[in-house]
Amino acid sequence: TGPDTVSPTGQPTGADQARTAQSGSYLTNAQGTRLSDTDHSLKAGPRGPVLLQDHHLREKVMHFDHERIPERVVHARGAGAHGVFRSYGAAANVTKAAFLSEDVETPVFVRFSTVLGSRGSSDTVRDTRGFATKFYTSEGVFDLVGNNIPVFFIQDAIKFPDVVHAAKPHPDREIPQAQSAHDTFWDFVTLHTEATHHTLWNMSDRGIPRSYRTMEGFGVHTFRLVDAAGGTTLVKFHWKPRLGVHSLVWEEAQIVNGVDPDFHRRDLADAIEAGAYPEWEFGIQTFPDTPDQTFEGIDLLDPTNLVPEELAPVQPIGLLTLNRNPSNFFAETEQVAFHPGHLVPGIDITDDPLLSGRLFSYLDTQITRLGGPNFAQIPVNRPHAPVNDMLRDGMHQTAVHRGVAPYRPNSLDGGCPFTAGADLAAYVEAPVRVPEATKVREAPASFDDHFSQPRRFWLSMSPVEREHIIGAYTFELAKCYEQSIRERALQVLANIDPELCAGVATGLGLPAPRPTVPLADVAPSPALSQVGRTWPTD
Ligand code: HEM
Repeated sequence: TGPDTVSPTGQPTGADQARTAQSGSYLTNAQGTRLSDTDHSLKAGPRGPVLLQDHHLREKVMHFDHERIPERVVHARGAGAHGVFRSYGAAANVTKAAFLSEDVETPVFVRFSTVLGSRGSSDTVRDTRGFATKFYTSEGVFDLVGNNIPVFFIQDAIKFPDVVHAAKPHPDREIPQAQSAHDTFWDFVTLHTEATHHTLWNMSDRGIPRSYRTMEGFGVHTFRLVDAAGGTTLVKFHWKPRLGVHSLVWEEAQIVNGVDPDFHRRDLADAIEAGAYPEWEFGIQTFPDTPDQTFEGIDLLDPTNLVPEELAPVQPIGLLTLNRNPSNFFAETEQVAFHPGHLVPGIDITDDPLLSGRLFSYLDTQITRLGGPNFAQIPVNRPHAPVNDMLRDGMHQTAVHRGVAPYRPNSLDGGCPFTAGADLAAYVEAPVRVPEATKVREAPASFDDHFSQPRRFWLSMSPVEREHIIGAYTFELAKCYEQSIRERALQVLANIDPELCAGVATGLGLPAPRPTVPLADVAPSPALSQVGRTWPTD
């Protein structure tokens, strides 16, 4: 058994299928021995003590005892679907990635998620949503592990444990932020003002999507595309839902929360089952790969920044269609392992310090979550391209590797006859110049502006969206026990916009402070508003 017994669609074949089918005319134990009874323990007489020698009882209960694996440390609650991505070929001039060539179809698995709740939490909470896509390309797996919000709370991955500790349920009572105590979340985001932009998106209607089918998705970081001649282009990835972007209003979200905590996962599965396949157009914003990696004064390595679509239009390059529900939630949705470092030739990373930390974190956490280093062999994670690595052994190894010399070159197994990295089809890191520098623990000055982009977002909102934002801040901040945190939050809002600050201050019955920074002179970006969005254009 092993990866070579998987069909190109990832389904087990042959002996593997027989082993995993769980069907047949009689029941067996895990070793294939036919059982006579699975409903009664072996006892000393019908009313006597249960015997320790009941090996069937022990095997059955032992296995049940270990059915649960650790939930994801973030994004624990999710729903997944299979689908297909068809490329328009419109990116072929900027990337050599084969799956982005014209008319190529690539199988995908997508997992949507909330961030903070546990596996059994509700769907319609105010939170960021994950939008993670696994492309099973002919050149290996490419994962785009994005969110429905185009910016992030922090600029450096070293703060990720801190922001998550601040936002997860309170350590003493395990009460989620969104229901009672809110102090640690608001304490963090007001002391780390780089979080202002993401928080504002969360407090907007984007924080409570109507459906996974009506969410945008964003790769957040700036990535680097590499063309066939080795030329590079900086890029931001976008998903645009064919159904448009729609949200719940807060009262709806609250009611749905109680009536149907599975609202979003039910909606996704029902739509696919009914043949109303959700679709997203894949789009890119491209920027010249200049040495300073900025565009129109925006630092492209700062993940708290977006680039307004009016400055860099999103060009459609393909269509994602979700058309098949998982047949087993655990095997697929729970065991899928995304990783921003799963890249294919033609797509490379940048030096965004948040992305660098992610490149470590996902693989690391999956060793714990999926029980060892062999999770790439789990069917949903298996590449559809041939795998010829030199990895061996380890927990949950299911392949029986042949040969005696898992190293190269060697003189025993035919010498491992391939030339690594020499041709265009191989993954070669873009030869980006690393500046001569001194080691430091500090952020660049270009990461210092925490208020211009939130101000642009606020100024881009329609009146009803502004009303919802003011309502959300007022509701959430009213749940803080500490008055000083509410006051600090109002100071942050004053630095975004006086109208926003005054609205929330009135709701909280507190005075509105004056801004402590000059208000940025930024133009609204109509594409940021959900009202009157023009995408898709056809
Ligand atoms: C999980 C997105 C930042 C660590 C996820 C998932 C998504 C996501 C969508 C769920 C994947 C799934 O459905 O299985 C993002 C985005 C980020 C970001 C868009 C910023 C732009 C970070 C950072 C770290 C991190 C900075 C750590 C330094 C994790 C971990 C998981 C996770 C440990 C759980 C993975 C697993 O158990 O398989 N993230 N994340 N994330 N993220 Fe992030």
